[in-house]
Amino acid sequence: MMATAAREFRVPPVVLTGDDCALDVGALLRASGQRRAFVVTDPGVADTPGAGRVLARLRDIGVESLVHAQITAEPTVRMVEEALAAFRAGGAEVVIGLGGGSPMDAAKAVAVLAANPGPLRAYEGADKIPGGRAPLVCITTTAGTGSEVTRYVAITDEARERKMLVSSWRLLPDVAVADPALTLALPPKVTVATGIDALTHALEAYISRHAQPLSDLFAVSAIRRIGASLRRAYRQPDDRPARAAMSLAALEAGIAFCNASVALVHGLARPLGAHFGVPHGLANAVLLAPVCRFTAPAAPERFRDVAAALGVVPAGAPPQEGAAAAAGAVSRLCADLDVPSLRQLGVTPDRLEAVVYQMAADALDSGSPANNPRPATADEIVALYRESL
Ligand SMILES: NC(=O)c1ccc[n+]([C@@H]2O[C@H](COP(=O)([O-])OP(=O)(O)OC[C@H]3O[C@@H](n4cnc5c(N)ncnc54)[C@H](O)[C@@H]3O)[C@@H](O)[C@H]2O)c1
Ligand SMILES: [Fe+2]
Repeated sequence: MMATAAREFRVPPVVLTGDDCALDVGALLRASGQRRAFVVTDPGVADTPGAGRVLARLRDIGVESLVHAQITAEPTVRMVEEALAAFRAGGAEVVIGLGGGSPMDAAKAVAVLAANPGPLRAYEGADKIPGGRAPLVCITTTAGTGSEVTRYVAITDEARERKMLVSSWRLLPDVAVADPALTLALPPKVTVATGIDALTHALEAYISRHAQPLSDLFAVSAIRRIGASLRRAYRQPDDRPARAAMSLAALEAGIAFCNASVALVHGLARPLGAHFGVPHGLANAVLLAPVCRFTAPAAPERFRDVAAALGVVPAGAPPQEGAAAAAGAVSRLCADLDVPSLRQLGVTPDRLEAVVYQMAADALDSGSPANNPRPATADEIVALYRESL
């Protein structure tokens, strides 16, 4: 009998899903004796009726909230340091991240820096955080990064123009909350960017060299739900079943990639964010089809399964046909969702050429490309950036 590899699979101890589940967070905190919460969010989210309902319920149940709505874009080291200072001054017992990946990642960084000397840069890479962290709840308002169920944070280090990736089980929240009712106010462009991010997580987890049987289950389920629902959530923002499916799919995709890692698309997407400010989900979207075409020959069965989960080939289709269909399905999805090109996002050929080799080096440095079933050299990465223009 063939030996199987030893695996580890983790999810947060408490995961809340379904309409209005975010309103139950206060009761959970009270049950743990916590009465003062530091809420990290952004001004856009803080203004939504959904956030208002969550904060009102906390107040009604006797949990005081100190709201820090200062995460004004994808988080930077400076934003995290300011949030940490506010957390320390406020004397809260628990950190709540409320928003998309940006506020949740900032909250995770604050929770860790509350119990470790820092700076955050010292923990870049895998498993470098020495101590514990403050209690941490992540409530996602997008569908989405899956940060509520992952062991990662991505914080931009302005000084080095680089998106730092910190990976540690200490970053896995105590409570993860994916409440679809909170996503009803998501603008269509954010629905698309975050939905494609979730699709990329699931796809990359499924083809990753670290894929494992348990992460496969979550990855395939997420791809199915996204293929069936993302277009509807984009065209009809108040389509509740589509929002519910996307909320669950993003969470499943987060669980999948937390336990199987992402690969080449994410490796290439982060430098696009750091150098050109391309939002994370859109960076994934423009790279997804070219990278699928590049990678598929090395894992045709896996890509065939992706195509089948997207509903474009039958489950038993020949692997080569399925692999070609996967890249096509992803391109059509991006077209249907009106994903802008890199040029429309302001990345001209001249601007790209000025930094493309640095970006390729940063991509390789992040370690994610090494998880890809087809390894990529720096020159191949440069070619993929050019192809995605
Ligand atoms: N930690 C992880 O595991 C992980 C995984 C993937 C991505 N990320 C990181 O997450 C960040 C991106 O997060 P994101 O894509 O969720 O975007 P985001 O958090 O930056 O939010 C994007 C915009 O959507 C708005 N918004 C969010 N929820 C809303 C709602 N319910 N209604 C109305 N507006 C709303 C915000 O105000 C903001 O303007 C990046 O920094 C990326 O690197 C982290
Ligand atoms: Fe992502």
